[in-house]
Order: sequence, then structure tokens, then C-alpha cells
Amino acid sequence: LANNLALTPPMGWNDWNAYGCNVSETLVKQTADKIVSSGLAAAGYQYVNIDDCWMQHSRDSSGNLQPDYGKFPDGISGTAAYVHAKGLKLGIYEDAGTSTCAGYPGSLGHEAQDARSFAAWGVDYLKYDNCYNNGSSTTQQYIARYSAMRDALAATGRPIVYSICEWGVNAPWTWAAPVGNLWRTTGDIQNNYNSMLSIFHQNVGLAAYAGPGQWNDPDMLEVGNGMSATEDRAHFSLWAEMAAPLLAGNNLVNASATTLSILGNKAVIAVDQDSAGKQGRLVSSAGGLDVLAKPLANGDVAVVLFNEGASTATISTTAAAIGKSGATAYTLTDLWANTTSTTGGAISSSVPGHGVVMYRVSGGTTSDPGGGTTTTTIRGV
Ligand code: GLA
Repeated sequence: LANNLALTPPMGWNDWNAYGCNVSETLVKQTADKIVSSGLAAAGYQYVNIDDCWMQHSRDSSGNLQPDYGKFPDGISGTAAYVHAKGLKLGIYEDAGTSTCAGYPGSLGHEAQDARSFAAWGVDYLKYDNCYNNGSSTTQQYIARYSAMRDALAATGRPIVYSICEWGVNAPWTWAAPVGNLWRTTGDIQNNYNSMLSIFHQNVGLAAYAGPGQWNDPDMLEVGNGMSATEDRAHFSLWAEMAAPLLAGNNLVNASATTLSILGNKAVIAVDQDSAGKQGRLVSSAGGLDVLAKPLANGDVAVVLFNEGASTATISTTAAAIGKSGATAYTLTDLWANTTSTTGGAISSSVPGHGVVMYRVSGGTTSDPGGGTTTTTIRGV
């Protein structure tokens, strides 16, 4: 969406994966405090996002959405003011149908009114779902609903990142680029390796649709929610390589040092946030051994060697295969070990089961396999 927002993938936190409906002002404030004190804010985490279940079950007599004041004593506006005072931004959740997925009032028919509420409260990011879509079954119908909220947000004049959640929606990457800043590409992630792996497989082929202001969204992070540290590093590396939003989904207040160090790896974050906005692509995949390459703005290429299986294996590729040529030696910076080495062209490493090795490759020239330039034309909306 050309609203000059999300020119790199959004970074921040969302309560849903760790807390479900147990969201509250206290949680949001404590998390905002921790994002700053842990250094994650300085590393780029910016949006503190409230998911479903923040509101009352009915609108007021004027039709306005009402915060659940039991959960949010200072309302969304008071919560936003606190988050803004920390130098962060606030996100919220609503739904294009009659109800949110958890059964709270949806925005259908109230788009302009609700967008005005969000803007008045100081909301900076809207995740807009499509549960209870009331028979909105054709592509044109749900594009029209998502477009109505896009236009309502624009009419407020407040910069609000617009995140499309995919319930009931087919292949949003084929139509959502002019509608939202990001769009979910899969069902909900869970805190286990097989869920993460399945979502990776569904999202990795969609590189042609991603670019500044328009991102594939393979869902929020499960780092710190139960996978092993090796799996968490793989998850974080793959999401960064795919230029995915990096929205932590864990309990940050009590997060372990290991979890914070994974979420805070600035070299990996820099791959995600690279200004060229290319989503990495699979350059080879055989027997569960994957090689991904992501061209970066300065001519480097970020490479992930991902071992899908359970046993340690050697994964090999070459500078030529990842788009590099023209040098007698290339520099490999290992983004987790923080070591460098040089190679004449072979790129190879032992990789633990369910794990990755991630390199930034420098030197020579880079041929770009494309991506980030696909534009979508919507007819009849
Ligand atoms: C859907 C979304 C989730 C979350 C819930 C809230 O399942 O995909 O990310 O927002 O709704 O009810």
C-alpha cells in the first residue's frame, strides 16, 4: 500500500501468541518498558500491538467501539499515550466482518467511525481480520471490505500501518498490495517446529509479491514460546530472510537471556530490514536441505543454510548459485557465530538438525533474481 509506511517490514510485539485473550493495559505497559530496557527498541522493535479481546461486547449508544475498562482502565488512548512516551507505537486489532474472531464487535458498516476512534486514540497500526464475514465469499466482496477500511484509515489523516489478516480470504498476495502494507499468507502459527516449518514452506515461494510497503506476513514469531534455541534461531533467521514482519509473540517481561539475544541479533535484523526490500528465495532444496538467498541493498547477499531434518547434515552451495560472481575471494560473515572467513566460491557448513547457518556474503558483483517489483491491478473495486 503506497501510504509511505512499512517501507521495511514492521517490527514489534503482539500479545496473541503468548496470552490469547488475556490482554491488558498492565501487560502492554510492562512489555513496552521491557522493549526499551532490554535494548529491543534500539534494535528496531517499535510497534506494541494489542490483538483481539480489548473491547466490550457492545458498542455505545452512538455506535462507538468501547474499550474493556476492566482490562484497560485508561482506555486505548491512555495506553497509547504511555507507549508513545516510551518512544514506541501502538497497534490494535479489528475485523472486517460482524464480529472479531473472538466474538467482539466487528467493523462492518462502521469502518469510518471505527477508523476515527483508532486515530483519536493514537493508534499507529491496525491488524484487520476477516472472521464472521457474513457471507462475504467472493474475492471482490472481501477486497471491497478491506478497501473500505484502507480508505477510512486514510481519511483520518493519521499514519496507520494496515495489516491484513487472512481468514476467509484466498491468496491475498495476488490482490492485497494496493490494499494493505502486509497480508497474512497462512493460517495461525503455533509454538512448535512443524507449524513453523509448514508456514515457511507456504510463504517462501511468494517473493515476487514482497517489497517496500507490501509484505508477505507468515504470522508472528514464536521465539521464546517453547521451541529449542536452535529452532528459535532457525525461525528468526528464516523470517528475516523472507523479509517478514518481526513481531515478537512471547512473554518479553520474563524472557530468558537466550530468547532476548535471538530477538536482538542486529546482524539478522539488518537482513530483514534491508532497504532493498527483497524477500529471499530458495536457490536449492533437496532432501530437506535448503539454501536461501536474499540480495541486499549494498550488493551483499544474505544466505541461509536450513536443515529441515532432525540430524546434523552438511549443506553446500556456491557463490555463483547465490548470484555472486567476479571475485577471486568472497567474505562470509556468520551472523550467529559472529565470525568471518573467506572463500573462493564454495559455501558449505555442517548444520544442526532443525537449525540454520546464516551468512552475509560480500565481494564481487551480484545478479539479482528479481522480486519486490510485482504490482497488482485490482479491477472493479
Ligand atoms: C485469528 C488471527 C490470529 C488472532 C486471532 C484473534 O485467528 O489469525 O492471529 O488475531 O484471530 O482472535
